Amino acid sequence: MAKPLNIGLIGYGFMGRTHSNAYNRLTNFFDSPYQPVLKVICGLEKDVAQAFANRWGYEEAETDWHKVVERPDIDLVDICVPNNMHAEIAIAAAKAGKAILCEKPLALNSAQAEEMVLAIEAAKVPNMVSFNYRRIPAVTLAKQLIDEGRLGKIFHYRSQFLQDWTISADVPQGGMATWRLDVKAAGSGVTGDLLAHCIDTALWLNGSIADVSAMTETFIKQRKHAETGKVEEVGIDDACAFMCHFANGSLGLFESTRYARGHKALYTLEINGEHASIRWDLHDLHRLEYFDHRDDSLVRGWRSVHVTDGDMPYMKKWWVPGLQIGYEHSFVHQLADFLEAMDQGKPCSPTFREALETQKICDAVLDSARSRQWTSVG
Ligand SMILES: NC(=O)c1ccc[n+]([C@@H]2O[C@H](COP(=O)([O-])OP(=O)(O)OC[C@H]3O[C@@H](n4cnc5c(N)ncnc54)[C@H](O)[C@@H]3O)[C@@H](O)[C@H]2O)c1
Repeated sequence: MAKPLNIGLIGYGFMGRTHSNAYNRLTNFFDSPYQPVLKVICGLEKDVAQAFANRWGYEEAETDWHKVVERPDIDLVDICVPNNMHAEIAIAAAKAGKAILCEKPLALNSAQAEEMVLAIEAAKVPNMVSFNYRRIPAVTLAKQLIDEGRLGKIFHYRSQFLQDWTISADVPQGGMATWRLDVKAAGSGVTGDLLAHCIDTALWLNGSIADVSAMTETFIKQRKHAETGKVEEVGIDDACAFMCHFANGSLGLFESTRYARGHKALYTLEINGEHASIRWDLHDLHRLEYFDHRDDSLVRGWRSVHVTDGDMPYMKKWWVPGLQIGYEHSFVHQLADFLEAMDQGKPCSPTFREALETQKICDAVLDSARSRQWTSVG
């Protein structure tokens, strides 16, 4: 019998929806030790929070996150608010003894992330950061193939995350939908928002990164602020590209921009090894491309593996072979893994401490771009 787990979710935006969907779907498909109970949703506007509560099945709507964290009946605090609020909420939730699921990037910078890690580890509370792309079955399968040694020695790791939604100078910075362009709310631009995903997946698949050499650009240097109405300097990076050395000797190449006309969320990765290569593309997320040089030369070539069979990661929980799943399922998978680990008293990756490593690489990337020097990961 699944134990009830009372959820307090802070932030009813994009991620508030993906996480709420995961809580609602979890025990329909997974034999979880816990049954999430949607106790309270918290957001800035009462009527929007109430409408969200009605739609997704929360018992109550709240506008003050402190009250959510202080409630003795809340077991898990889920942080789905802009980046500048993660630290304060997570540290308060840790002190209150709550389990914490926090959206990425963990913090505005690695100094702040370090404070969060100390608080979480002192309180010994279950914690996880929502780098959900690890748990798209094709990406999890890539990890399995690499760990089995099928690729052999890794030479190259290449990854991009391309968008095109901030090309117009009329897009404001700050405010509800556009806080990502305000450095005070976001911490950085594409580096923390998009490359953090690429870095997290890379660390998981290919191990640690030693040093980086980066360049960034802010194409539109001033934008109107949605809250003040004034034209202000833009402090975020609109585009970033960096090279790096992995500890295993392989070379990394990463690029992200919000100025790649025609691309909405093109997250790709490619890994080239001695024997084999793999390639994955978020726009075709249920496929893993695989090339194996050891194949018979007459039929050797890139194969496109449809990741839907029951022996592939997570897939036996869903439909039948041949029927694919999508983006939202990665959030169900991370929740299933988190609660399973919590029940067993084990950490669930990526923990806050693991996400701190991603944050340190983001900091090194931004430092390198500023100094135009190779920079060690601190
Ligand atoms: N894992 C992913 O792939 C992914 C994707 C998108 C966003 N994110 C991360 O999720 C977080 C939220 O992003 P989003 O796209 O959902 O943003 P969003 O703008 O859609 O929603 C932000 C929410 O925060 C709430 N909020 C803001 N200030 C608040 C306050 N003082 N008290 C209570 N609520 C407050 C707003 O009401 C809003 O509901 C960010 O850290 C972002 O980086 C992760």
